[in-house]
Amino acid sequence: MKINYIIFLIYKFLISYISAQCFYHPNNILASLENIECTWDSKVENEKISTRELSEEIFKIQLLNCDADNITCDNVLKEFKRAAKLIASIFIFNTQINISVSYYDLCTVYPENICKILGGAAYPTQFYLLQDDDGMKRLYPQSLVKQFQFPNTPKFNEFDISAEFNSKGGFWFKEDLNNIKPDEGDIFWTICHELIHGLGFYNGWMGYKNNPIAVIPLPIYVNPDGIVLKNNLFSFGSSFVEFMMDKYTILLSNGTQISQFTQKLNTFFDEYKSNAFSDEFVNSSQFKFAQDLLVLATTPKSLGLLPRNSKNYSIDSFILETSIPFEQGSSLIHVDYKTYINTNDFLMTYNIIDGISTENMILDNGNYSGGPIGPKLKQMMETFGYTTADNPNPYRPQPFKSPPSNVTSKPNINSGFRTEMIRNLNVLIIILWIPAGLRHYDIMK
Ligand SMILES: *[C@@H]1O[C@H](CO)[C@@H](O)[C@H](O)[C@H]1NC(C)=O
Ligand SMILES: *[C@@H]1O[C@H](CO)[C@@H](O)[C@H](O)[C@H]1NC(C)=O
Ligand SMILES: *[C@@H]1O[C@H](CO)[C@@H](O)[C@H](O)[C@H]1NC(C)=O
Ligand SMILES: *[C@@H]1O[C@H](CO)[C@@H](O)[C@H](O)[C@H]1NC(C)=O
Ligand SMILES: *[C@@H]1O[C@H](CO)[C@@H](O)[C@H](O)[C@H]1NC(C)=O
Ligand SMILES: *[C@@H]1O[C@H](CO)[C@@H](O)[C@H](O)[C@H]1NC(C)=O
Ligand SMILES: *[C@@H]1O[C@H](CO)[C@@H](O)[C@H](O)[C@H]1NC(C)=O
Ligand SMILES: [Zn+2]
Repeated sequence: MKINYIIFLIYKFLISYISAQCFYHPNNILASLENIECTWDSKVENEKISTRELSEEIFKIQLLNCDADNITCDNVLKEFKRAAKLIASIFIFNTQINISVSYYDLCTVYPENICKILGGAAYPTQFYLLQDDDGMKRLYPQSLVKQFQFPNTPKFNEFDISAEFNSKGGFWFKEDLNNIKPDEGDIFWTICHELIHGLGFYNGWMGYKNNPIAVIPLPIYVNPDGIVLKNNLFSFGSSFVEFMMDKYTILLSNGTQISQFTQKLNTFFDEYKSNAFSDEFVNSSQFKFAQDLLVLATTPKSLGLLPRNSKNYSIDSFILETSIPFEQGSSLIHVDYKTYINTNDFLMTYNIIDGISTENMILDNGNYSGGPIGPKLKQMMETFGYTTADNPNPYRPQPFKSPPSNVTSKPNINSGFRTEMIRNLNVLIIILWIPAGLRHYDIMK
């Protein structure tokens, strides 16, 4: 008895420190997130950066791979730098953000049915599960976590955002000094849009089953190779995981947080004494909440993002895209096209308009001082935790728990705690798709 008890304690102890918290996005747009062990550096204290001024560029952009001619490759880099400069003129970063960019024929890596319609994709390379002030843990993107400057942090991925653009994507570059053609999309618009996703305008809502019969938050599946002992797996508590942005997502009818649905859905795992998602879900009492989510996700103007300090959610919310048939990667992760495409907050709608440059979009919509970063988008990024002159002390989630020193010494990447998120093209990636006529950022099946 006594021995068992001690073993249990040590066991709990190790689990709570070693597991959880770090979620790695493999360097492939089709890969699913993996829950990995965080690697802790022991020399945390002397590495404290404090509020050192950033003398270097705030965004470090590396073009790792480019299969186009030198001029085009140069232009890709220039456009990324221009977008980064714009973002850095609005938000105040205290820690450098590294972006890896590849510009190449995506058909050399991805299957035809994907690469032919895929213009570009960007995603945060790593997420960290952090405790919010409402009791829920959510996945925070690395670029934002770095800005929090917590005293103890796991070892960060060298890149914060990974972007892959299709060199066969038919993009227009301002540098070419030609007028944009009716069938061309301004790469700058797309880059700005993708970088905002990379900074955390990102979530994981997905359809359940084909022709979805319900909508669910990102579920975690146990890796079929079974390395992980099932009951050890979820030291982070729940199997449906929210992203940072979901904290601010509300029902526009009555202001209820969408997180309440996630919480109800997570009771499935208690009831079924399981911590992995399974087919039993469809027959569970929790299923109706997922059906309600599908209704919300396909009813115009039913969901929105609530900025901090809002006095009236119906006036202040940034309305999310729920006016199209449910599409993972388009619905809910963008703002309402009809409401915003002709406003200064056009950037995060799910369609780009071909044949018009970003500059002309801005001019047509009132020549807003923030350019493509509209006022509502800025306000939401501030709400997420980014600093601006108007928002010098943004909200932060709870810092990382520092690991005990004797655990620190043995970082152990990818051994054991590996779970598999559902592998789904639409969910974990941001995709640009180019049908004739309309150009979407994100996949439409
Ligand atoms: C492109 O740049 C590379 C390296 O700078 C150089 O080796 C190559 O000759 C250049 N190609 C052209 C077409 O200028
Ligand atoms: C990425 O940014 C960090 C700042 O957090 C910096 O220390 C690191 O060297 C950068 N990595 C690369 C590859 O530039
Ligand atoms: C808000 O609306 C939703 C959906 O209509 C409903 O399920 C929920 O009970 C409402 N909440 C409150 C507090 O009225
Ligand atoms: C759900 O219930 C239906 C009808 O009772 C049954 O046919 C089906 O096998 C159940 N599915 C699962 C996964 O338990
Ligand atoms: C919020 O604004 C709407 C629309 O103007 C108004 O109908 C409603 O009464 C306001 N609610 C509150 C609490 O002020
Ligand atoms: C648009 O605004 C910029 C400053 O943000 C200004 O320099 C420019 O002249 C304006 N253009 C027009 C056409 O009003
Ligand atoms: C790790 O450190 C804790 C607290 O200092 C101590 O109780 C425990 O015995 C140590 N474990 C090992 C394996 O050294
Ligand atoms: Zn998008």
